[in-house]
Amino acid sequence: MKNIAVIGAGTMGNGIAHSFAQYGYKVQLIDISEKGLKKGMETIASNLDRMVSKEKITEEQKQETLDNITTFTSIAEGVENASVVVEAATENTELKLKIFRELDKACPEDTILASNTSSISITQIASVVSHPERVIGMHFMNPVPVMRLVEIIRGYNTSDKITKTIMELSKDLEKVPVEVNDYPGFVANRILMPMINEAIETLYNGVAGVYEIDTVMKLGMAHPMGPLQLADFIGLDVCHSILEVMYNGFKNPKYAPCPLLTNMVRAGKTGVKSGEGFYDYA
Ligand code: CAA
Repeated sequence: MKNIAVIGAGTMGNGIAHSFAQYGYKVQLIDISEKGLKKGMETIASNLDRMVSKEKITEEQKQETLDNITTFTSIAEGVENASVVVEAATENTELKLKIFRELDKACPEDTILASNTSSISITQIASVVSHPERVIGMHFMNPVPVMRLVEIIRGYNTSDKITKTIMELSKDLEKVPVEVNDYPGFVANRILMPMINEAIETLYNGVAGVYEIDTVMKLGMAHPMGPLQLADFIGLDVCHSILEVMYNGFKNPKYAPCPLLTNMVRAGKTGVKSGEGFYDYA
């Protein structure tokens, strides 16, 4: 298992490509736009530069990692010879279903089809391909080269064999895989998002300001980032859409996005990527 195709060169996709390439895998990085691929490769190079400057890897290892990555704009060409495809496209159900239908046509039936989705049902994604037992969730955390967890999501039909293979593959990247079942939000976001939403609700209710809420959680609970800063880092639109998936999936009002979060998303204040969220990044 040496060839891995990664679909999407955005934040998660380039981090996933970086991690596989650093551990000697040949990565076929696919994105619809050349511009996206160029930006993704630049991010990987600058993250590798940071690792070189911190003496975590050598200049030679950096070059080997970059040489392990080939870029493609076509899914059919990019998945050729890949034993595993990791889809890390935008978090949109229709888009993911479209990509998986295309993968079903382009890949032999023994290719493992993984999705990095943070909340979309693996069972639903698997329903559009033949052999749904080969579809699995491989949910990496941001920033991927740093964070050790991989949440491995078993869809309703995912086989034991495929689960075991993906657990071992994650360990090969020196990550810690944790197996969970396919219910809305899985485990990571089912616990994280209510905390973030409650932090926003606390702000919305005027209990405390942004700095105060984040400082309580950073210094009081030893979190590396406060929940509002973390929401900005993840993207407020992403947080909003994950909460909606849980709200609709469980039909439980406890997952309803705070009106302040909804308003900020509607106003285009989506956090770091837009230059403004709970903090200013301009
Ligand atoms: N690539 C490679 N290395 C990176 C990096 C990147 N993109 N970003 C940071 N690093 C490295 C740094 O080089 C540094 O390495 P050393 O410890 O060897 O010096 C280390 O990470 C720490 O970075 P910094 O010193 O620059 O900054 P920091 O100490 O503030 O840490 C952080 C940054 C790792 C992001 C830390 O703040 C953190 O852990 N934040 C919480 C992250 C988190 O919760 N992620 C999960 C989000 S939820 C998710 O992803 C799932 C979802 O579905 C929404």
